[in-house]
Amino acid sequence: MENIANAPVPRHVGFIMDGNGRWAKKRNKPRTFGHKKGADVIEEIVSDCFGRGVEAVSLYAFSTENWSRPKEEIDEIFSLLKKFLKKYSGKLIKEKIRLIISGDTERLTGGLKEECLLRVKETSGFTGHTLNIAINYGGRAEIVRAANALKGKSGEITEEDISGALYTAGLPDPDLIVRTSGEQRLSNFLLWQSAYAELYFTDTLWPDFKKDELTKAFLWYAERRRRFGGI
Ligand code: IPE
Ligand code: IPE
Ligand code: MG
Repeated sequence: MENIANAPVPRHVGFIMDGNGRWAKKRNKPRTFGHKKGADVIEEIVSDCFGRGVEAVSLYAFSTENWSRPKEEIDEIFSLLKKFLKKYSGKLIKEKIRLIISGDTERLTGGLKEECLLRVKETSGFTGHTLNIAINYGGRAEIVRAANALKGKSGEITEEDISGALYTAGLPDPDLIVRTSGEQRLSNFLLWQSAYAELYFTDTLWPDFKKDELTKAFLWYAERRRRFGGI
């Protein structure tokens, strides 16, 4: 296997953190138990990405479609995200990581909205690493929002205009999207930004996705020949 130290590292990696429910089901536990375990692995993966030289990490935490789940499950996911942000906030400041939230925070209950706004504000001046958490996020809703924001603009709307009106404005497009749990779809994640992303799918469930799994994904990425339409 190639030496990871010399391999090209993606500038921006997106994670579709899927499989928490099935992880819990395999253990005869409630789905919320899986979400708890899933939240526990986030910090290590994000820190490891930044440690390897990744500039931006995007995490898909809650989709616009996830509102169709039972209220108790939604409340638990929000509570876990709030706890994660609170716990990680010291590190965000210490390591000068800018936090951005993709998605409409208005509907986030249980103090999650306030926690998001606070941590975004605290880290807004940082320019090194960016952690982007997608909560109440959908790629289509994001593109519609951008289109509405550009409505009054005079002249033709360009690709740069749209990119600049997305939540991820200013970030490089994701080079690599990782989806756990065996599903091979984007489920409305970073639709515009992922036009040329390499897509990595693993059967590993998100709560089992540890550093060695990340190494595998990065080695796979390093072997891709990215042609961007060329030959
Ligand atoms: C991903 O795990 C977490 C969220 C969507 C919030 P799931 O809850 O979708 O787990 P599975 O797919 O049912 O196993
Ligand atoms: C995608 O997972 C959303 C997140 C990981 C937050 P889902 O479990 O909601 O996706 P589908 O329903 O299997 O496409
Ligand atoms: Mg799922």
